[in-house]
Amino acid sequence: MVRKAGRTGEAGRAGGVVRRVGEVEQVEAAGEVNRVGKAGALRRTHIAALATYVPPRVLTNADLEKMVDTSDEWILQRTGIRERHIVDRGVATSDLAKEASLAAIAQAGLTPDDIELIVVGTTTPDTIFPSTACLVQHKIGASRAWGFDLGAACSGFTYALTAASQMVASGAHRHALAIGADVMSSIIDYQDRATCVLFGDGAGAVVVSALDGRSAGDVGIIDFAHEIDGSGGPALCMPAGGSLRPASRETVEGRLHYVKQDGQTVFKFAVRKTEEICRRLLARHGLTPSDLNLFVSHQANRRIIESAAARLDLPADRVVINIERYGNTTGATIPLALNDARADGRLKQGDLVLLASVGAGFTVGAVLVRWSI
Ligand code: UT7
Repeated sequence: MVRKAGRTGEAGRAGGVVRRVGEVEQVEAAGEVNRVGKAGALRRTHIAALATYVPPRVLTNADLEKMVDTSDEWILQRTGIRERHIVDRGVATSDLAKEASLAAIAQAGLTPDDIELIVVGTTTPDTIFPSTACLVQHKIGASRAWGFDLGAACSGFTYALTAASQMVASGAHRHALAIGADVMSSIIDYQDRATCVLFGDGAGAVVVSALDGRSAGDVGIIDFAHEIDGSGGPALCMPAGGSLRPASRETVEGRLHYVKQDGQTVFKFAVRKTEEICRRLLARHGLTPSDLNLFVSHQANRRIIESAAARLDLPADRVVINIERYGNTTGATIPLALNDARADGRLKQGDLVLLASVGAGFTVGAVLVRWSI
């Protein structure tokens, strides 16, 4: 595949090996070449371990009925959510991320010192600075790691996974942690029935490792596609608390430190974009949705997942939905869904799995994986 240079924003550019040839870039898409062992080529990577953590306290629809004018029936019918986990005061995103990370590292047969990079996809960092990655690094004792937070809202996990995978694929690092973690209850207005029923708290962490010597077939992380569209910013945001509107009496009184959402705009964009990005990523590999064993998308609303799956002609038995138990945990939904699917025996070694997300920004992501553990 040869295309003009300069379109570096096109999703998936780094999913293949890019060589500069005069005024054009020549892209050998992943799958068209054996990337392993070539000078300057990317190493194949895989998810070597996966673990999740949710705080013990459960907030049910019945609890919410006592807090705002809502009903279990409305929440279940419109969103598919029955309950969500919520932290106790004083517990922050890094605390949830720590639990998931330590479990993932142990599962991989590693120690924290083996981790060289920590990427945290989060919308609810403990503080604006220091970064949650720094806090996690210290809490888990990853003495050799550097890292950073990544702001992609509900696409936090797919973006973190791609970022970590590409750093390992480049040869810069051997083992990285990609984390999706959020304490959404810290930015939810529990007087706003339109948003407070939707979200929960949780964390998921994967160890991303190089797959040296295991280059046969499309094992591991195969490819990715991502987009951003800033025109969608106002549809889902937290208006204050940043440099535009620092915290003030007015912002607090105006309840501007909470999530504000135009639900229907987000809903329609999510359904359309999920289908689009999934088909585009699969087509790049000569695949169609029927080739997938499992579709694991961000869990924002059962109806969004079912609508996107219907557009992709995916039968229900290939679609993971666990929003019922956790609500929308933003960065953590995909690892929580993967982990539940694995526990249920639905996710098996060798499965072709497509991860997909749409979030505030808007951010859009898809990662294609041949499950290897
Ligand atoms: O992760 C990415 C971020 N978020 C999303 O992807 C969410 C995308 N959007 C959605 O999931 C849906 O739009 C919602 C679940 C947020 C809302 O569902 P909807 O079917 O789009 O409902 P709506 O906003 O059109 O509201 C319908 C009615 C309204 O009443 P009226 O105006 O028809 O009288 C709302 O006031 O439902 C009312 N309503 C509620 N009623 C009971 C809104 N929230 C509630 C509630 N309980 N919690």
